[in-house]
Amino acid sequence: MDFQIFTGNPAELTADTLVVTINDNGELSASAEKIDSASGGAIQARISAKDVTGSAGSSLTLYSLANTQANRTVIAGSGKENLNAVDANKIASTIGKAIAGKTGTAAVDVSALATDSRPQAWWAEQIVLAVHAAQYKFIATLPGKEPSPALDTLVWIGEDVKTALTVADAKGLGTSYAKELGNMPPNICTPTYLADEAQKLSDAAGFSCKVYDEKEMEEMGAGAFYSVAKGSSEPGKLIIMEYKGAGKEAPHMIVGKGITFDTGGISLKPGAKMDEMKYDMCGAASVLGTMKTIAELKPAINVVAIITSAENMPAGDASKPGDVVTTLSGQTVEILNTDAEGRLVLCDALTLGIRDYKPATCVDVATLTGACMAALGKVNSGLFTTDEELATELNTAGAYSGDRVWRLPLEDDYQSLLDSNFADIANIGGPLAGATTAACFLSRFTEGTRWAHVDIAGPAWGGDGTSKGATGRPVPLLTTYLLNKVS
Ligand code: BES
Ligand code: MN
Ligand code: ZN
Repeated sequence: MDFQIFTGNPAELTADTLVVTINDNGELSASAEKIDSASGGAIQARISAKDVTGSAGSSLTLYSLANTQANRTVIAGSGKENLNAVDANKIASTIGKAIAGKTGTAAVDVSALATDSRPQAWWAEQIVLAVHAAQYKFIATLPGKEPSPALDTLVWIGEDVKTALTVADAKGLGTSYAKELGNMPPNICTPTYLADEAQKLSDAAGFSCKVYDEKEMEEMGAGAFYSVAKGSSEPGKLIIMEYKGAGKEAPHMIVGKGITFDTGGISLKPGAKMDEMKYDMCGAASVLGTMKTIAELKPAINVVAIITSAENMPAGDASKPGDVVTTLSGQTVEILNTDAEGRLVLCDALTLGIRDYKPATCVDVATLTGACMAALGKVNSGLFTTDEELATELNTAGAYSGDRVWRLPLEDDYQSLLDSNFADIANIGGPLAGATTAACFLSRFTEGTRWAHVDIAGPAWGGDGTSKGATGRPVPLLTTYLLNKVS
């Protein structure tokens, strides 16, 4: 997408689509006034006829208005003066949908909506992300289906927010890439497929990329990772991408769970909706999506991205409940439930990443527990950390991007739920506080490092039936969080 800034009279601007706003008192923004007066009151006439109300998220499209140069004029409702987050996102999404999926040029004026907390740069970012979202279509396994047409040029009527537009375009690319990987069927999107994608992205962007296969992991002593990977004929992979934009500074590390299919293993899941367990690699997808954004923007930070990937299958050589394995850290784990596999592949990835890269901060993202989804639904991801500064940074990034997190407890009182009489630690903590005990498990492998865990079990995908799909979350959260670190 190309971007231009325009400050003249919108009635004189040639565009395929022009967007102006009215609020829910029926008051016209400055641009809407100009179009109304040029066209002899075309907008006022629609307001009088009650064809358009100005409520948040509403819109009306008018075609070829007299004395204007746009093929379509979209009148978008801007709602009340003090917008809440839900209405603000509704407005951005409506505008994104109105201008997306058509080639050519769209011009947007939302300057009447800018406030201190949502400046024009925020609107620019959200609208560009909404365009990407509206244009995303999964066609990889639908022969003969065409991709949506893509908007060529977005003309921003108002302040010079070119930087925000470019940043948002890169975030949108990363988010769509994460959706594509998440939606890809599990017979195609295997650990090997993720490793190939990481290699391709790294080659194109100049990242270094290292892939350990499951045998190397076993020989290294990563017994927890191997205990999950060994039950599948698809070899597990630990993938590390390294981006250097800030010389010798300690890197920021992101780690994603990449279970390309989670049957539960010998602790087999029930059959209903089991197809959804192809989304158990959405943490990995969002790490790849984030690195795609980083590749586009090349910010002045160092980032190490780790994907810990395997298929969790029942098999003759699969792990059994009661098995005890030795992790890369040396701690032993009693596997009481083979369906708690995410923490097993993550713990060795965290140990290896922290050992080899000494990161300044470490954030893992994982579709880790049904308990987290039960607590927070599909709105917020669960945030677990004992580092107040990291909590603030992730909360701020979540609120700004709309890819929100909600902090849940990670207090020492919960740790004893993981006690085992046969190993240093059990891999499940019983029926209570399931999201927290999963985080407690991971905390045993991150001591001394500034670390946060984000459980994305709810937000990673949504919809049902033919509307089911990956959301690309938490790419907006991770990219915003990382880019905020650029000094
Ligand atoms: N991938 C699942 C978590 C999950 C479940 C994500 C449903 C999204 C929707 C994870 O591997 C898992 O199976 N967790 C178990 C843990 C339990 C055995 C302690 C769970 O949440 O039931
Ligand atoms: Mn599982
Ligand atoms: Zn899982």
